[in-house]
Amino acid sequence: MAYILLRDLDVPDIKEIDVYLQHGGYEGLKKALKKKPANIIDMVTASGLRGRGGAGFPTGVKWGFIPKDAETAYVVVNADESEPGTFKDRQLLEGNPHQVIEGALIAAYAIRANHVYIYCRGEFQDTARELEKHVDAAWGNGFIGPDILGSGWNCQVHVHVGAGAYICGEETALLESLEGKRGEPRIRPPFPATHGLYGRATVINNVETLANVPYILDKGVDVYRRLGTPDSPGVKIFCLSGHVNNPGNYELPFGGETTLRKLINELGGGTPSGLPVKGILPAGASGAILPATDEVFDTPIEYGSFKAWNSDIGSASVIVLDESVDMVWAARKMTEFFAHESCGQCTPCREGTYWLSRLYDRVAQGLADAGDVETINSVALQMKGKCICALGEFAVNPVVATIEHFPEDYERAVGAAGKTEAAAD
Ligand SMILES: Cc1cc2nc3c(=O)[nH]c(=O)nc-3n(C[C@H](O)[C@H](O)[C@H](O)COP(=O)(O)O)c2cc1C
Ligand code: SF4
Repeated sequence: MAYILLRDLDVPDIKEIDVYLQHGGYEGLKKALKKKPANIIDMVTASGLRGRGGAGFPTGVKWGFIPKDAETAYVVVNADESEPGTFKDRQLLEGNPHQVIEGALIAAYAIRANHVYIYCRGEFQDTARELEKHVDAAWGNGFIGPDILGSGWNCQVHVHVGAGAYICGEETALLESLEGKRGEPRIRPPFPATHGLYGRATVINNVETLANVPYILDKGVDVYRRLGTPDSPGVKIFCLSGHVNNPGNYELPFGGETTLRKLINELGGGTPSGLPVKGILPAGASGAILPATDEVFDTPIEYGSFKAWNSDIGSASVIVLDESVDMVWAARKMTEFFAHESCGQCTPCREGTYWLSRLYDRVAQGLADAGDVETINSVALQMKGKCICALGEFAVNPVVATIEHFPEDYERAVGAAGKTEAAAD
């Protein structure tokens, strides 16, 4: 079942502008252009929409940070989508691109921007080329360009393709990359709201966040808030992957009956092996790995619902691991990923991910003992709170969570080491 974002995906050719228009497309923008920009920001704030890029920051509040007297402002659409297990933005961009373009235009009008940049991950070459055609179609229909629909407001939309680096999904690294520099996160403050792209006021929003906006403008805040919870209104696309029979994107309202049990067992059809689920990554590689307890399985999902497990939903890339998975192996894989993707600016992240990776190599080679596991935990904890961007924090999560929730896997790995050393003696 799809509610807002994926609801039209089975309409043939919905990505073409004529079909999109026949299905109520660009009504949200038309309504927006009849309002004052400040009223749109109020509306999006009242809707309670929260950013779907991972942090869940309130979208209307973010737009409200743009100084009213900013001479130049930009909207940047974050289509970098590189989090392992996340594949929703691509489906939105390829399946219903005008929904995203329309959302970005509404955001631009709300902050009085004249340029929108859509930053696509490096591997989205084909997606980006297609997107350019859809931008042209929107231009041809008067939704982009000079004097949009006779409003006197001008806006252009540019599609940019990155070079394929996970860190360029981090908003300030993305801005650097867009400016033609190395994709390295900036130290904040100042924040992008005042010093963003080319030093100008900038709003950066995730693709899925913006795809919600036309619906909010068209149907109104009350209709939007009918779905979800007071703290997390609306719907979320959950990217389900790993050991499930039916992987894919599932759009569900926050809270209520939306639980991991529903997602994994009902919609996902359980594990292909028939083995029980052992662990779940509710937020891709950058979150904790949760144990598959009844409490975890039956917690209604919204922002903050996995706080008790030091986790959140991030961009809701739910990766399922069955009983066949060794969690030390899983933590090692993620550590290697972060070591590879660290931009290297901060010592704790650059050195920490490197040394964690080396320590996990020791474990995999059967050379580690309990002291090495303590060192792994200690290195990870020392990285916390000492980095420029959140990648340094993300790298810690799978390590600390697996040591906490799956100690028996570490004991087994270390026990195996004991045996290896005894045999060598
Ligand atoms: C290492 C790292 C990678 C990120 N990757 C993405 C990404 O691929 N897409 C995205 O929308 N946000 C990503 N983010 C979050 C962005 O920095 C930013 O919070 C988001 O684009 C804001 O949009 P939102 O408010 O609509 O969520 C990443 C953050 C970090 C620290
Ligand atoms: S935390 Fe890591 S990825 Fe982020 S700026 Fe520092 S070194 Fe780069």
